[in-house]
Amino acid sequence: MNPLFKVEGLKKKFGAVKALDGCSFEVFEGDILGIVGPNGAGKTVTLSVISGELQPDDGKIIFRGQDITGLPPYEVVKRGLTRTFQLTRIYPEMTVLENMLFAAQRKEFSYNVLQLLKWRMSYQVDIANKERAFNLLKTLDLINMKDAKGKELSYGQRKLLELANALIIYPEPKLIMLDEPFAGINPLMTQKIAEYVRGFQVKGLTFVIVEHNVRLLTNLCNRMIVLSQGRKIADGDPKDVQQDPLTIDAYFGE
Ligand SMILES: Nc1ncnc2c1ncn2[C@@H]1O[C@H](COP(=O)(O)OP(=O)(O)O)[C@@H](O)[C@H]1O
Ligand SMILES: [Mg+2]
Repeated sequence: MNPLFKVEGLKKKFGAVKALDGCSFEVFEGDILGIVGPNGAGKTVTLSVISGELQPDDGKIIFRGQDITGLPPYEVVKRGLTRTFQLTRIYPEMTVLENMLFAAQRKEFSYNVLQLLKWRMSYQVDIANKERAFNLLKTLDLINMKDAKGKELSYGQRKLLELANALIIYPEPKLIMLDEPFAGINPLMTQKIAEYVRGFQVKGLTFVIVEHNVRLLTNLCNRMIVLSQGRKIADGDPKDVQQDPLTIDAYFGE
């Protein structure tokens, strides 16, 4: 079986820090792949290099047979590859619905105030986007918050809106990468988000989920890889990977 997505030998340095040091892995259609690793292992940098926010120094990114290495975020999104951010990118003064409509139309997948101002001046609601926003809000149980401002949302609701913002891209996303979707939220919301992930997976979406906490992911993902110092040190069944001496060493060793 051909992988839906793969990265080969990704490298990224910041000064003397090797954030990625030859990282390679594959994602198959329908996977919920967990990427775990201690703080500073290179998890977020991996996502940013894939989504086009950062340029890799070396290596290849192949999505649906196409080389997408180094493409800008907008081009990556257009191919059906989307992501969420560890620090949610939600505009506090805009409503939930406006946040989503903006996410659907922004040209760059970045938090850009100038672009936001331009968008607001030429604000024209696209009916198709509005319908997609409503559907997603219903699916995520956020519909009764649609007119609430970003700043009025709870932390967990922000995580949900962040997910909705990533999913509203057009055409329909094939692969979504979540950066620490469970960080700082309560167990009930964690369970809810996990259920939504399973629901979207059943409908055909493939997931890459980055998480510091290994135990949170064990029941959700079908495969897990461990990053340490910018390299993959384990790959396989989540239960096996958790007990791998290299994993234990990366988390607890020197
Ligand atoms: N923009 C940046 N500039 C300089 N160093 C960075 C930058 N982003 C990440 N790093 C460094 O790269 C390493 C990996 O970071 P990151 O991928 O954010 O780790 P994590 O696995 O916790 O998500 C860390 O040492 C971090 O300090
Ligand atoms: Mg991170």
